[in-house]
Amino acid sequence: MSTQTTGTIAVFGATGQQGGAVVDALLDQKARVRALVRDPESGRAQALAARGVELAAVRADDPASLAAALATVAGFYFMTPESNSLEEVQAEIRIGTALVDAAVQADVPHVVFNSVFGAERESGVPHHDSKHWIEEHLRKSGLRATMVRPTAFMENFTTVMAPSLEQGEIVLRLPLPEDVALKMISIRDIGRVAAALLLATAQAPGGAVELVGDELTGPEIAAAFGERAGLPARYEALPLSVLPSELDRAMFRQFAEAAEDPSDLAVVRSIEPAALDLPEWIRATGWTAPTDAAGA
Ligand SMILES: NC(=O)c1ccc[n+]([C@@H]2O[C@H](COP(=O)([O-])OP(=O)(O)OC[C@H]3O[C@@H](n4cnc5c(N)ncnc54)[C@H](OP(=O)(O)O)[C@@H]3O)[C@@H](O)[C@H]2O)c1
Repeated sequence: MSTQTTGTIAVFGATGQQGGAVVDALLDQKARVRALVRDPESGRAQALAARGVELAAVRADDPASLAAALATVAGFYFMTPESNSLEEVQAEIRIGTALVDAAVQADVPHVVFNSVFGAERESGVPHHDSKHWIEEHLRKSGLRATMVRPTAFMENFTTVMAPSLEQGEIVLRLPLPEDVALKMISIRDIGRVAAALLLATAQAPGGAVELVGDELTGPEIAAAFGERAGLPARYEALPLSVLPSELDRAMFRQFAEAAEDPSDLAVVRSIEPAALDLPEWIRATGWTAPTDAAGA
């Protein structure tokens, strides 16, 4: 017996990284998708429309626009935008709360909230606690809800956590002790797991799943990049004080604490058997070693 959801799935954040991956995975499954966007004329929104995605113009501060966009949908995925200051954290909570309230008004049958690892409890990390409060609001709403809680994006290794090439050696420096395993997930797999939950081809035990595709220490991460590059690799653990923002210091403290929590890797694999580990992600993305900092 198939219980797969066949109605339209609404996606908030569809023009972004995670929401975009959810749309990709939903379209792969031939699902009907409605993207809730600020600007339907933007290039990213138009690119979605060209792939058959219905666009609904919304404003997070206009509850009527949100409820109208959620009318008659079978499921609703939302993420909340990144917060880099305490003011943005407050705005993030307002957006998440408004989206939950609109889902209540539209009587959405199932809501999947893209939260963050550790958000089942308050952690003292402001842009994670924002998601904890949104989870609490969603839980109290009475809606059927599933929390997906991504760990660090593997894609961060192409930006803020990118290894460098120094005198013929791959070097990774992170503010994380070298014996701590960092939990990580590819954005592609965030989308695939969320889509499976939205389409009811999978369930998350207890209504929540930490999204983790690999767990590796700094030296193991460096070695994975070194192996791909065919070069020696080393890891340097940096002090937290190298991070200019207290939000980021709090987050890296939590990365270390989260390593102690039981992992949902097996649950993720049961939902998405092809979930990428780091070496697979490195191969799949075609990662190549950066230019040598010394110009060698
Ligand atoms: N980096 C990590 O390792 C990591 C790990 C776990 C969780 N996270 C969390 O992931 C989130 C960021 O996700 P992402 O990288 O997928 O985001 P993203 O690529 O920056 O996309 C943000 C999306 O939100 C939409 N948006 C932003 N502000 C809006 C507003 N006021 N009203 C309506 N739509 C708005 C944007 O639409 P427009 O087209 O209108 O701009 C876009 O679709 C953050 O909450 C972060 O804490 C990050």
